[in-house]
Amino acid sequence: MNKNREMENIYLPNLARIKDIQSETYDTRSFELEFVDTQMKKSFQFRPGQFIEVSVLGIGEAPFGLASNPNHPETFRFTARAVGSVTHALHQLKPGDVVGVRGPFGNGFPFDEVKGKNVLFVGGGIGLPPLCSLIEPMLDARKEFGDFQILYGARTSADLVYKDRLKEWGKMSEARFMMTVDVGDPDWTGNVGVVTTIFPKANIVSKNTVSFVCGPPIMIRFVILELLSIGFAPENIISTLERYMKCGVGKCGHCAIGHKYVCLDGPVFSYKEMMKLPEKVV
Ligand code: FES
Repeated sequence: MNKNREMENIYLPNLARIKDIQSETYDTRSFELEFVDTQMKKSFQFRPGQFIEVSVLGIGEAPFGLASNPNHPETFRFTARAVGSVTHALHQLKPGDVVGVRGPFGNGFPFDEVKGKNVLFVGGGIGLPPLCSLIEPMLDARKEFGDFQILYGARTSADLVYKDRLKEWGKMSEARFMMTVDVGDPDWTGNVGVVTTIFPKANIVSKNTVSFVCGPPIMIRFVILELLSIGFAPENIISTLERYMKCGVGKCGHCAIGHKYVCLDGPVFSYKEMMKLPEKVV
């Protein structure tokens, strides 16, 4: 480690300006950021599945999965549901306002290792945004992968995020896309039922397929069980573990599960790795 690196304060955020805010649902917004410092803006890189710690000055800091395409890191996006003081404060901000950003942190999704295989994405609610950081670069390199399938479920149609993208995916020929809502309403003409109810219609093949799952813990649990019953090997089921990540760098211990730190060893784990953790996911 060089001297400058050693002297770097890992808790010091870099300032980033909000370029754009997209309202996703009644309680969820997406924020597009760029670093204020030109050098920082040029040098920033991240891998799909990594996360950042975002601070609202004077309020506090919270972790968010990066949701944009890492092939274009000069601006980056994350999606936040207003659930606590930091996210509520974030939702008050306007384009042009400045936040603090630390990271990127975490291991990220495998990419090169999956080349030549079929990919299956299963997203639930606001678990879709972090998956987009992998879906987009994989679509950029579409020829490198086999069959490409994206399944997405949300509680109701009002809870669907990234609606523009869902519309595009519905029309694209490069990948198969299906979505569902747990509870239908009069305006919803699509599938009703939890995301696993579209598995039979999706003709999922476990052979040579790697699945990426992200969503609420209960959904992850049922999706993993279903994938196992279809014949997926535990190492071909890749998911994320949700823990309260405070420091992001393996110092505070908040995210520890047994001898693993979700912020350093995760947040991405294969189900094979999850099976070795003291806390059972399935
Ligand atoms: S968040 Fe502090 S150790 Fe992982």
